[in-house]
Amino acid sequence: MTFIITTPLYYVNDKPHLGSVYTTIICDTIAKFKRLNRDEKVIFITGVDEHGLKIQRTAQSKGLTPDEHCNEIANVFQKSWNDWNISFDKFIRTSSNHHNSIVYEFYKRVKKSNDIYMGVQKGWYCVGCEEFKENPDNSPKYKCPIHKKELEWKNEENLFFRLSKYQKEIEELLNDNNFIEPIERRNEIKNFVNKGLKDFSISRTNLTWGITVPDHKDHTFYVWFDALLGYISALSLNETKFSLKDALEKGWPASLHVIGKDILRFHAVYWPAMLLSAGIRPPKKVFGHGFLTREGFKMGKSLGNVLDPNVLLSKYGGERVRWFLLKDINLGSDGDFQNKRFVDIVNNDLANTIGNLLNRTTSMSRKWFNDSVPIDVKIDDNYFLELSRKTIYKYITCFENYNINEACNEILNFAIKINLYLNDEKPWILIKDDNNLPKVKQIIYNVLESNRLVALLLKPVLSELSNKINEQLGLLELKNENWKEDLKWGILKPGNKLPKPFPIIGKIEYE
Ligand code: MSP
Repeated sequence: MTFIITTPLYYVNDKPHLGSVYTTIICDTIAKFKRLNRDEKVIFITGVDEHGLKIQRTAQSKGLTPDEHCNEIANVFQKSWNDWNISFDKFIRTSSNHHNSIVYEFYKRVKKSNDIYMGVQKGWYCVGCEEFKENPDNSPKYKCPIHKKELEWKNEENLFFRLSKYQKEIEELLNDNNFIEPIERRNEIKNFVNKGLKDFSISRTNLTWGITVPDHKDHTFYVWFDALLGYISALSLNETKFSLKDALEKGWPASLHVIGKDILRFHAVYWPAMLLSAGIRPPKKVFGHGFLTREGFKMGKSLGNVLDPNVLLSKYGGERVRWFLLKDINLGSDGDFQNKRFVDIVNNDLANTIGNLLNRTTSMSRKWFNDSVPIDVKIDDNYFLELSRKTIYKYITCFENYNINEACNEILNFAIKINLYLNDEKPWILIKDDNNLPKVKQIIYNVLESNRLVALLLKPVLSELSNKINEQLGLLELKNENWKEDLKWGILKPGNKLPKPFPIIGKIEYE
């Protein structure tokens, strides 16, 4: 079995913004979690969407050719994902020859199904969305609600895709409650489909920056008809055989497309219909996450309040930002980035609760037990066996349901309970009486072993912090192969040497 997970293919009109970092971090965490389970081969796809009017105009405004511009921004994206420790397997560029040939083959199949015809497309177009929009007043002054820019009138001969033919199939697909998540989004899409699907245009004239339609040389493919196929062409990247058939054999259908709620219609309606027309199975699930705002306001260049992810990365490090985005925002709901809340959460959760617990326990253990994990301890302490078993079960269930913020809360609540246990037991007082030595050994062992589990559970979420905890417990780097086995209580060896403690994560200040 193959688990294929994708981010959207990002427009290269600009470098990554916090919204694209957010989606990519979500996919990265899910991919890392799936790799730990090792039941399926994981293919994590990301990339860039390079064609269309928006990109052509951006390049023009910089005095560059579209190629030059795309090369520059595609590199920025790749570098950025490396800086954020993103474990993607495939990075697809839609301007590559390889991708073009997959689009041609796909078009041929759709044409063979008699789903392409020539028509006239009249309507109001938003270049920012690359989409025709409703214009209630039919006024040239009307602005796209998302991009706040005036719509452009288009009246041209275009090729159309017979979406209306797939009404019944799409309705059936939407009846599968697993297909769209979260549920509110599913209803939104069902309402849209119930109004009746209309054919949509899949080519443009007067646009040079795109893939030429083979049998209509003055047309280029509509950017969405081209970009969505990147999810398939990515599969045969760097392979020796790269026909559509070969790409599909790498494990299609995709298990999960993670996207922002604004592009759900493309993924949950247009894309499955295109695939059905070409005789290809639709993706298994589309998850539409919410939007990020900043201090309560939508982020936008015109508002001047865009949060530059690079600034966050260099100021705070990727893992703090990652923890905040994953733990504080319910996947599916909108989320607000507030500096004060961000600082409080990462200081409390990571520095005070997780970091401090480890630091003080390893220090006590080193001081009292010869720089080692205490010996002569029981590993069948029922309370801890039960607590860790329940935590791990809930954590895995949350992750399997893409409830990442709850999975993070499971880790945190476990660490909070261990802190409370330590504070209640007060080994620093008990140690003053030699008769208490066996009890102190047991308390310290329980807490150290709990820290080992915290590191394991943090692995897909904050892999650097996870490694540092492990290192501080004197253990070797965590290996994916052993993850499931290692989740058992009692694996930390009594007598194991503990290295000198170092702060695994420090506190940060308010802006
Ligand atoms: N190129 C298309 C996708 C094609 S997929 C075959 C596209 N690109 S995009 O760069 O404009 O957007 C990528 C993703 O970023 C979208 O899922 C969008 O919803 C998301 N976000 C853009 N701004 C966002 C926030 N402020 N918050 C969260 N995500 C947001 O659309």
